[in-house]
Amino acid sequence: MEKFVVKGGIPLTGEVEISGAKNAAVAIIPAAILAEGPCVIENIPEISDVSVLFKILCEIGAEVKMLNRHTVRIDPRHVGIPIVPYEMARRMRASYYFMGALLGRFGRASVSMPGGCDFGVRPIDQHIKGFEALGATVSLADGGMVDLRAQEIVGTHIYFDTVTVGATINVILAAVKAKGITILENVAKEPHIVDLVNFLNSMGADIRGAGTDVIKVHGVEHLHGATYSIIPDQIEAGTFMVAAAATKGDVLIKNVIPKHLESITDKLTKAGVNVEEYDDSVRVWREGELVKESIKTMPHPGFPTDMQPQMTTLLAMARGTSIVTEGVYDNRFKYVDELRRMGANIQVDGRVAVVEGVSTLVGAPVKAMDLRAGAAMLIAAMAATGMTEIEDIQYIERGYEHVVEKFRSLGASIERIHVQEPELVGKAL
Ligand code: EPU
Repeated sequence: MEKFVVKGGIPLTGEVEISGAKNAAVAIIPAAILAEGPCVIENIPEISDVSVLFKILCEIGAEVKMLNRHTVRIDPRHVGIPIVPYEMARRMRASYYFMGALLGRFGRASVSMPGGCDFGVRPIDQHIKGFEALGATVSLADGGMVDLRAQEIVGTHIYFDTVTVGATINVILAAVKAKGITILENVAKEPHIVDLVNFLNSMGADIRGAGTDVIKVHGVEHLHGATYSIIPDQIEAGTFMVAAAATKGDVLIKNVIPKHLESITDKLTKAGVNVEEYDDSVRVWREGELVKESIKTMPHPGFPTDMQPQMTTLLAMARGTSIVTEGVYDNRFKYVDELRRMGANIQVDGRVAVVEGVSTLVGAPVKAMDLRAGAAMLIAAMAATGMTEIEDIQYIERGYEHVVEKFRSLGASIERIHVQEPELVGKAL
């Protein structure tokens, strides 16, 4: 087991390059199996979630070859086994995109119920509703496998009951080669949905409206291979923005799409942080005190839930009382107990956290409860006085490429140390 040992109190300064977007990559990689030829995907982040998807691709018969550290060639021509077993699917949420992609290609799929970060109940009823509307029969088989079968996938009209990134993507994947037109209403509008649709369209799909509430998928018979570059990671960029602010630093965050960061920039500015936008970078620096600010997470273009733990950590050091409302998940405040160990004064009642700012956090042993909560612990540790040890860092490395090296290049003092303890077995990543 490894942990991070962080010496806090050093302002982050310098420049950092943002990697390709995790949540776009984890949709685009399974989507490649819909092509009738090889796809080359660039700007792939080097993270463990992506490695798991490559393993699944190989398992089902695709050929996966890294052309360089960030470019992969996926040849899906020999994919033949539309089955993703529990051992693979349990490791990550996005494994469920193989349901839509395999259904779209073969008219059948058998995929285990997905794992993923634990934020309370995370149903897939909207995915199933979409698959069934397209003509598939969906049943739960032995061992928690979801079996999907369709004689024919036929375009239809689907209104999602809730705004969901996962179901929007999965149903697009299933519908892209359907007969006729599929109209999806009340869809998610996240940048990675637009990115996935751009990838599919570059393969010959005919999908319109991504980024709005209504997406129209005109089914096509064939999809060809394509070369595509993934967008920069909005949440990684936001995490570095908050880290710069928390440590009273001055960081130029490069390779970003500033438009995707607007909701984060807005809240940081109101909390007393300076943000300057350029064409494809943002500079974030802080001179004065942090001040309270209230936040409610919402689907895009609202404030992203994946930035909630990092922002709550920042507000824990702001003058005054901030209210943070989690509008997407039932239970995404589990990390607050860890922040309290560092001196934060936060009360949680259901989906609302009342954050009474303290002048400083103090180093303590803490755990990364999940990916973004782990990023929040790193930010807290870098801003705190003294030393912090962070356990369960494998969660952080699921989604942040070379996180230690990147923060160190900005002056942070982070050591990765090996601890002799029995390995954690059976814990869903
Ligand atoms: N929901 C339903 N029924 C469904 C699907 C979702 O009720 O069939 C609910 C969920 O329980 C949740 C809400 O709808 O309350 C939103 O869920 P969504 O489907 O949008 O989330 P997801 O697809 O499971 C993706 C990201 C998450 C991110 C959310 C929201 C991936 C692999 N995961 O999850 O990313 O929090 O969208 O933006 O894309 C992360 O990167 O740390 C992460 C957790």
